Amino acid sequence: MTITHCVFDAYGTLFDVSAAARRAAGEPGQDALAAVWQPLAADWRAKQLEYSWLRAITGDHADFWSVTGHGLDWAMERHGLDDPELRERLLALYWELAAYPEVPKMLATLKARGLSCAILSNGSPDMLEGAVDSAGLALWLDAVISVEEVGIFKPAAAVYDLVGARLGAETSGVLFVSSNGWDAACAAAYGFTTAWVNRAGLPVDRLSGRPDHVLTDLTAIPELV
Ligand code: LAC
Repeated sequence: MTITHCVFDAYGTLFDVSAAARRAAGEPGQDALAAVWQPLAADWRAKQLEYSWLRAITGDHADFWSVTGHGLDWAMERHGLDDPELRERLLALYWELAAYPEVPKMLATLKARGLSCAILSNGSPDMLEGAVDSAGLALWLDAVISVEEVGIFKPAAAVYDLVGARLGAETSGVLFVSSNGWDAACAAAYGFTTAWVNRAGLPVDRLSGRPDHVLTDLTAIPELV
């Protein structure tokens, strides 16, 4: 079926999740962070996702902003950073993450072709609004859908159900785009046509679904629809 809707994961896909630690590490007086910002950013992200999966499995939901803070606390302790002001700075920067450079042109091209574009993210509504506004993406997005509407994180099917419920899209008319291999795999198993943005050159996840397309960034998304 013809693709009518392009639905994007947010963190890591449209927004560069490493940007917060990278930016803070470049600020004056942040020598301790500068020495560890890369492994800190990797641990922060890994724990954020791990906690989201564990909370989904156990039914112990907390919103993604809380989970993001818990992941940061774990990562800061691991890397010996006991600094409440730095914690606040990193979270403030996470609120206004930069979009990857190819995002505005890619979204503008999709909209010019008459496609509906939306975000489907673990992010809480307010943090998604902060990121979308600071990156200037709102004019191209028909909807920003948060898992908070169903109170469980990806890859629960209830989250992917929101695309049909909120956008009126047929499952077969959706191109779902994620940089998270597990998200792309589970969205493919759900029935969406799926593009995995494999920015890090990782192996494909061994799950039931396989992405239909594997890209290195978002530039070629309009060619898929
Ligand atoms: C999201 C996370 C998974 O935006 O990156 O949903």
